[in-house]
Amino acid sequence: HLSVKERIDKKRKAALVGGGQMRIDAQHKRGKLTARERVELLLDPDSFVESDMFVEHRCSDFGMEQDRNKFPGDSVVTGRGRINGRLVFVFSQDFTVFGGSLSGAHAQKICKIMDQAMTVGAPVIGLNDSGGARIQEGVESLAGYADIFLRNVMASGVVPQISLIMGPCAGGAVYSPALTDFTFMVKDTSYLFITGPDVVKSVTNEDVTQEELGGAKTHTTVSGVAHHAFENDVEALLNLRGFFSFLPLSNQDPAPIMECHDPSDRLVPSLDTIVPFESTKAYDMLDIIHAIVDERDFFEIMPNYAKNIVVGFARMNGRTVGIVGNQPKVASGCLDINSSVKGARFVRFCDAFNIPIVTFVDVPGFLPGTTQEYGGIIRHGAKLLFAFAEATVPKITIITRKAYGGAYDVMSSKHLRGDVNYAWPTAEVAVMGAKGAVQIIFRGKENQAEAEAEYVEKFANPFPAAVRGFVDDIIEPSTTRKKICRDLEVLASKKQVNPWKKHANIPL
Ligand code: COA
Repeated sequence: HLSVKERIDKKRKAALVGGGQMRIDAQHKRGKLTARERVELLLDPDSFVESDMFVEHRCSDFGMEQDRNKFPGDSVVTGRGRINGRLVFVFSQDFTVFGGSLSGAHAQKICKIMDQAMTVGAPVIGLNDSGGARIQEGVESLAGYADIFLRNVMASGVVPQISLIMGPCAGGAVYSPALTDFTFMVKDTSYLFITGPDVVKSVTNEDVTQEELGGAKTHTTVSGVAHHAFENDVEALLNLRGFFSFLPLSNQDPAPIMECHDPSDRLVPSLDTIVPFESTKAYDMLDIIHAIVDERDFFEIMPNYAKNIVVGFARMNGRTVGIVGNQPKVASGCLDINSSVKGARFVRFCDAFNIPIVTFVDVPGFLPGTTQEYGGIIRHGAKLLFAFAEATVPKITIITRKAYGGAYDVMSSKHLRGDVNYAWPTAEVAVMGAKGAVQIIFRGKENQAEAEAEYVEKFANPFPAAVRGFVDDIIEPSTTRKKICRDLEVLASKKQVNPWKKHANIPL
């Protein structure tokens, strides 16, 4: 007969080993860490405060009521802790207990920490590794998912939510990560899909592997479901710590300001020659971004998806900024469906969490063609336009070269309440490039070459925009960092409020 104290100790010990050593070994053999090892790596040493270690599932069907089927803490580890001293709430699904499957109790534990995170204003990080709904529990488990989904939606725009997929995540389970702000994956050991390869085969007769269907490569290059993939658990968790440092704790919290050792007035002479003389020649927008931000530290979001637009986080004089840039190296940097959606979601995250947006523009327009039109480029392109227009955070725009057509308007132009809009001397702001323009307005006329030269003379420079005040200044590229840092300081106190509404109706 055990005393209460002995029973407490016994339960705690049992909770610490989850589904037991054999299953822990199996987890390790797959190159995966356990739920608890992951929490330890993610959080500052000794900062983890666990909750609900004694919670057990309440299922009594299929023999689940037997002691050997009860695990203190059930199949998820939850609590709070700190990353570089900053508060965060965490749940980590334990694959060693019923494959990390989600029981009513498991869901209740997650909901509890999500509610606490909302009350105090701190981000939620979910480490997903689960076989989905606890099959023995039926609707109880489905109810649990819905309780989490609702909280994901209520927390959206209030506290940052990040999902790291570190194992299976299938069926209804995928919708919690999908509702969070960022979804990261671990290569080779994680996958996300609505239905697995067997169901796919029986319904559509397609042969596809788990990895092809929902692995990290698929979701970071083809579907755009995930924002980043990492080599293994350790690399993923360490990168997540770095990523966390860019984010504010909530929408009431200013974005963090870090001590900066990179002089804010640093000149970058290489930028004066970075844009090629011929306007059809490509260059790498990442070179510009790296050269301008603090210590070349840029956390790119979705680096392998819709590469014609670059988005990510950096710091300018220690302040977090969201960077958006057209990428002339890929499809000439034109906007298409995927890049518009990628950009729009990023801009909306920044706006929701008070992160200033710096936009680098070199865009020849929207991508033409039936694929784009049939795919709805009109409504998808509208998302990016909508996102920039509604954003009330500080907005700084630099036109490095082309800003053609509707895409000029979209890319955080003055007209969409850009606070500071600069043009480099290489900027060309026009309805379209010279060749296309002349073909239309001088159709069938002689002297096309002459007309083209006249068009270039008129429009292939920053003056038409500058004389109208649509750009505030034409600046030497080498001074761009210095100017942005100075402007961000002034704009730190920016206050702008959109008209009252229940919510806007962004084209979806
Ligand atoms: N409910 C209850 N138990 C589950 C479970 C679930 N959804 N998913 C996995 N488990 C259990 C398994 O029964 C197994 O228990 P056992 O070792 O006592 O037999 C244990 O978790 C490990 O699962 P296993 O299937 O051996 O692991 P695996 O790595 O070979 O496969 C999955 C992992 C996730 C692919 C597989 O377990 C699976 O297909 N699960 C069901 C997925 C599903 O359809 N969920 C509902 C969608 S909402």
